[in-house]
Amino acid sequence: MNVLDFAKMKKKQIPISMVTSYDSWSAAIVESSDVDCILVGDSLAMTMHGFGSTIPATIEMMSMHVAAVRRGAPNAFVVGDLPFLSYRKGLATAMDAVQSLMQAGANAVKLEGVKGSEEIISHIVDSGVPVMGHLGLIPQSVNGLGGYKVQGKTQSKEDILLEESLTLQKLGCFAVVLECVPSAVGKRISQELTMPTIGIGAGCDCDGQVLVLQDLLGLNSDFKPKFVRKYMEGISLIKEALDSYDADVKAKRFPSAEEEF
Ligand code: KIV
Repeated sequence: MNVLDFAKMKKKQIPISMVTSYDSWSAAIVESSDVDCILVGDSLAMTMHGFGSTIPATIEMMSMHVAAVRRGAPNAFVVGDLPFLSYRKGLATAMDAVQSLMQAGANAVKLEGVKGSEEIISHIVDSGVPVMGHLGLIPQSVNGLGGYKVQGKTQSKEDILLEESLTLQKLGCFAVVLECVPSAVGKRISQELTMPTIGIGAGCDCDGQVLVLQDLLGLNSDFKPKFVRKYMEGISLIKEALDSYDADVKAKRFPSAEEEF
């Protein structure tokens, strides 16, 4: 997969699958699967570091996780998230953040919103770095949005989202994540854009879907929004394995003669 394949897949109506990964071992598993590409999302602040939002993610954290993912998945198309405010403090600071993610091994960067970031997005694109947009529920703005709420529910809000998507496309983005919008909005925006939309809680008419790996593997006990589908019960499977190990240790069944020197 390379950046040009996103548009090709949309044209051929082949849905794009994306999952998050933040570390080397899970990236290697994702790369060995049929999933098309990896997002090193700033959701790692929550899933990997235990914070309550994505706001504490820093460029140092993001770059370290991008580098780990790249080592585990040398051939995957990897998108790295620009963290909170890293692209809102002027061009030079934004470009330092982009440089950090790209030199850590990303193939592209993702950033949230568009208003006030137009010049920076253009400059990143003109610097040869593919940019993925992110609209709808943009978690870095959770305080401004008043919580994790479905966006674009009124006609005027829907029109603004469409306008912003078209702006991102005009600025040269190669794709846009649409998060938590009504499926009709996801459909309308996907139809109006030539670049692909990657939905999360945005309905099945988006050109692709993205999920947080821990959510789809059932490794996130506290979080069960409507848009997540669990493909396995990861917590109970892992707990079962750990309990079996503990029982074997306690009963002196582990290690066996074959596992000893
Ligand atoms: O940070 C992240 O994981 C994301 C996805 C939820 C799209 O931005």
